[in-house]
Amino acid sequence: MIQIKVQWSVPDIGKDEENAVSEVIKSKWLGMGPRTKEFEGNICSFTGAKHCIVVNNGTSALITALLANNIGPGDEVLVPTYTFIATVNSVLAIGAKPILIDCDPRTFNISPDTITSVLHKHPHAKALIFVDVAGMPADIDAIREIAIKHNLVLIEDAAEAFGALYKNKMVGSFDHTTIFSFHIAKQMTMVEGGAIVAGDSEVAERCRLIRSHGEGKEKYIHIDIGLNFRPTDIQSAIGIAQLKKVLKYIALREKIAKIYMAELNNLLAFQYIPEYVTRHPWMLFMSLAKNRSERDALNRFLNERGIETRIPWPPAHIQPYHKRKLGNISCPNANAVYERILALPIGNAISESQAFQVVDTVKAFYKTVLQ
Ligand SMILES: Cc1ncc(COP(=O)(O)O)c(C=O)c1O
Repeated sequence: MIQIKVQWSVPDIGKDEENAVSEVIKSKWLGMGPRTKEFEGNICSFTGAKHCIVVNNGTSALITALLANNIGPGDEVLVPTYTFIATVNSVLAIGAKPILIDCDPRTFNISPDTITSVLHKHPHAKALIFVDVAGMPADIDAIREIAIKHNLVLIEDAAEAFGALYKNKMVGSFDHTTIFSFHIAKQMTMVEGGAIVAGDSEVAERCRLIRSHGEGKEKYIHIDIGLNFRPTDIQSAIGIAQLKKVLKYIALREKIAKIYMAELNNLLAFQYIPEYVTRHPWMLFMSLAKNRSERDALNRFLNERGIETRIPWPPAHIQPYHKRKLGNISCPNANAVYERILALPIGNAISESQAFQVVDTVKAFYKTVLQ
């Protein structure tokens, strides 16, 4: 059996979270309640968002955001193909039609030019979801301009981008609806959890209703559509404790990313970081090998030596279900990225010496296998 030396992502959960959970249990109010409200206020203060609604995961945050913005059956929603599948599945879940957009080969995000060209073919699209891949903000200003020009509902899937800065502005502080995930591998976690932030008070109010079966002020009176997307106060208490430390976690991730880039830049390529990105929170550290066979061999070499990696992600247009459902779609950039990509270990509890173990093992691969 292979002994794992460096896990792909390790959360930092300890005494602070233990105490926070224990207080909730002692309070006897375990379901959604005061801790969730407090957490929502803290997220607004941290991001600069006007409104925040905490939910049970990032996927339900996406579904809530779509419903709250009146997107529904048959509506065309532009969405990146190169993303974790939740982005596309949330569109399908509400009966809307995903129109998949290819990624930029260097940033892995969707670019304003590609969005515009897809809009020519789909002039009746109602919404656009963009993703900040690996946590790196897309070109938010340019994308907002397109959304305004074409009268599109704009939703930012910032599931991976909590704490990211775009032109020194916090992701989440813009007026459009933005969602975060606080899943265990993220920059901060509720174990499972998510949030919607919005500038529009009506959208925010609808999100609150949707989170809890559309129940208004009166018990069992349902004034809107909704489901059960409520978090527990146990999860929110963990979120409160984690949020206090998120800048420390991001600083660690930045340090690890710098080590990888400085040490491996002759061997691997990396996600290109445009100038408008003023803080990349490095939810994922994505590297690119020269081609699929080199990537696969490197991946095996690392895994056999106890270094966990991931290959994120087969793009949506080639996923078995989505291909059946949506037909053949050509997205050559996403295909090319997927062939070469390898996510190296990063996380909230990785050490510098572990990062150097990764570096040394990658160097050993190129020395012994390729020469
Ligand atoms: C881009 C993106 N969107 C949505 C989600 C869904 O979040 P969750 O796993 O919390 O449901 C994720 C999850 O990691 C994600 O990476």
